[in-house]
Amino acid sequence: MTTTIEEVRSEIDALHDAGTYKTEPVLSGAMGPTVRLAGGAEVVNLCSNNYLGLANHPDVIAGAKKAMDEYGNGTASVRFICGTFSVHLELEKIIADFCSAEKATTYVSCWNANEALVPSLAGAGDAVISDELNHASIIDACRLCSKKVNRLIYKHSDMSDLARCLGEAADARRKLIITDGVFSMEGDLADLPGIVELAGKHDALVAVDDSHAHGVVGRTGKGTPEHFGVQVDIVTGTLGKALGGAAGGFIAGPAPIIELMVQRSRPQLFSNALPPAVAGGALEAFRVLLSEPNRVAHLQENVGYLRDGLRKLGYEVLQSPTAILPIIVGETAKALRLAAAMLEQGVLITGFGFPVVPEGAARLRAQVSSVHTRNHLDKALKAFEALKSEV
Ligand SMILES: Cc1ncc(COP(=O)(O)O)c(C=O)c1O
Repeated sequence: MTTTIEEVRSEIDALHDAGTYKTEPVLSGAMGPTVRLAGGAEVVNLCSNNYLGLANHPDVIAGAKKAMDEYGNGTASVRFICGTFSVHLELEKIIADFCSAEKATTYVSCWNANEALVPSLAGAGDAVISDELNHASIIDACRLCSKKVNRLIYKHSDMSDLARCLGEAADARRKLIITDGVFSMEGDLADLPGIVELAGKHDALVAVDDSHAHGVVGRTGKGTPEHFGVQVDIVTGTLGKALGGAAGGFIAGPAPIIELMVQRSRPQLFSNALPPAVAGGALEAFRVLLSEPNRVAHLQENVGYLRDGLRKLGYEVLQSPTAILPIIVGETAKALRLAAAMLEQGVLITGFGFPVVPEGAARLRAQVSSVHTRNHLDKALKAFEALKSEV
């Protein structure tokens, strides 16, 4: 082995020594309220973003198969070179309508969508202002901007700190405030009314990544703008969670901004389009969500049931309209150990530690789906009860 590979090996060994080396379960069945472990048991699934149970919905699968039959496996090139399949345009139309936006464009992931948006919109003399707890893709998107962009970070959901940043950016040509709609590790919502008000005063654009809000938050699942009854300029989101669960991301907003993305954004200019099967599946996922809004209401009932049950057991869980319930346990190794203990009780739940969350704030994160039954949630609560003395 070269010295470099030996050094990398010792980094990996250190993770093992610290008990923070992550192993992922191998599954032998589709994502649902339960999942089958390869060669093993069916366990209650508390760690998927399959919030509406659409990852294995028959209409979604049929939509994926139909698109694949019609368009084959993919474009085999980028869109501006070889063209766009009409299933992409159909999907982008439904996304734009869903987000109450003029236009939308898609990417192979929301990671790519965020990395497309920020550096394409913010150039020399502009300012990007980002919540400190934003998703890693937004953090990296800001890092990708030219050094001539003023990059400012405000304290999590702190409107006076956001006002300070906007003041510092007063001379910028464009000002873009970007935030998660739902913060995925905390399960809390951005203060969109506060952000929109400050943006109005400072002539800034607001972009919201509603990856964990679409299908979950708002009366009909249209996300944080629907929940708060406010209008934002740009919405990004994923098709890899509630909206079909496969992959894909999008940007929705005013037509000139979407056209700029198509013309300039590097993840679209230099990378293939969504595979047709993924686009067709996501299109059907939107149709199911729009025609069955009761899925969103049922999800909220399930979240309330699990949260109340956890509180009765003495766990502290944030009151929030999201489907994410974090349970803080402290050290990373402890979170991983507790997750393994939950699996022994027949419940799949993820332990998150450093560097995904701050050191000392490791947690188990429970995620609820509209297709969980009371039996599934009761089984999970029983496992949490058995774990209580160790937390
Ligand atoms: C807020 C947020 N944005 C973006 C992403 C990335 O989404 P994708 O899997 O589509 O790249 C995630 C996924 O974890 C997320 O939680």
